[in-house]
Amino acid sequence: MRSTRFSGPFNRRSWLAALAGSMALPSLAGVTARPAITLRFSHVVAEETPKGLAANRFKVLVEQRSGHRIGVQVYPNAQLYGDHDEMQALQLGAVDLVAPSLSKFGRIGLPEFELFDLPFLFDDLNAVRRITLGPLGKKLLQGLSRQGLVGLGFFDNGFKQMSANRPLLELKDFAGLRMRVQASRVIAAQMRALGARPVTLPFSETRRALATGVVDGTENPVSNFWTQAMHEVQSDLSLTEHGYLGYAVVTNQRFWQHLQPDDRALINQALQESLAFANQIADTQNDRALQALRQAGTTRIHRLGVDQRARLRQAVQPVQQQLADRIGPRWMSDLKQALHKS
Ligand code: SIN
Repeated sequence: MRSTRFSGPFNRRSWLAALAGSMALPSLAGVTARPAITLRFSHVVAEETPKGLAANRFKVLVEQRSGHRIGVQVYPNAQLYGDHDEMQALQLGAVDLVAPSLSKFGRIGLPEFELFDLPFLFDDLNAVRRITLGPLGKKLLQGLSRQGLVGLGFFDNGFKQMSANRPLLELKDFAGLRMRVQASRVIAAQMRALGARPVTLPFSETRRALATGVVDGTENPVSNFWTQAMHEVQSDLSLTEHGYLGYAVVTNQRFWQHLQPDDRALINQALQESLAFANQIADTQNDRALQALRQAGTTRIHRLGVDQRARLRQAVQPVQQQLADRIGPRWMSDLKQALHKS
């Protein structure tokens, strides 16, 4: 694995900068100096997803605004680290920014993040905002300091759908299916409540597991389903919209504190703008992916009737009770208060 911080990858640009004699020199005509700092941003999804596009926008903003003194190297598609090791890589300083889904914080000792996984919790993205932009969101991000991390903000992918090689419209359709899930106890409990068997797998292994029959189905927003070509190995996508998938961008405390205050402010500003951008485009990206999926014609798309959705919702209601202790009773009551739920 290549370390790029403070050095930049050995490419044409850095070679020319070296020839120019000094990293600190400003650009020669048509030649950009090698960045003094290079941030490494690792993520597990494709570049055409809300997260991929936000990461690329962040790179452009930081590099432009710093006059290319600060570089950003984005590693999509788990090129560098996958679900199992990206957080550890961040804690060790092997990367500088990651944006895991909120479902992946439980296993590093922050189970309260799994509240976002509670099925049928959010009626829409406005309800999500009441948490992410409110005091609860702030408290969640502050909690990351327990792991030596700094939480810089939340952003959306969107609502998840269910896929398999059959429609998933009624409880009986889930019976005995092995469903790939993220490492979240809440999502595992949701699958059990539906009668399926949860199988935890990293995102990057999901398509292969579906193709080889290691698992029968999975859940994800359509942009992830489409960009991983899961439509080639799943004949049916049921638009259940049963849960939310969002992200938190995190960095390492040591790294963050060692930045010059002006650089920190520039990076943070660029990041906040990129997250706002991701939130603006997330819905569109999912709609586009659905359209592309329809055109591909490989996968049947099913809309659920109101009664069918109500029955699934009913079946997973016990998950809130079952997982309240894991998430934490205080978090649960604050959550309900913020969402005006009893
Ligand atoms: C992601 O969107 O980052 C991956 C979600 C998953 O693991 O299903």
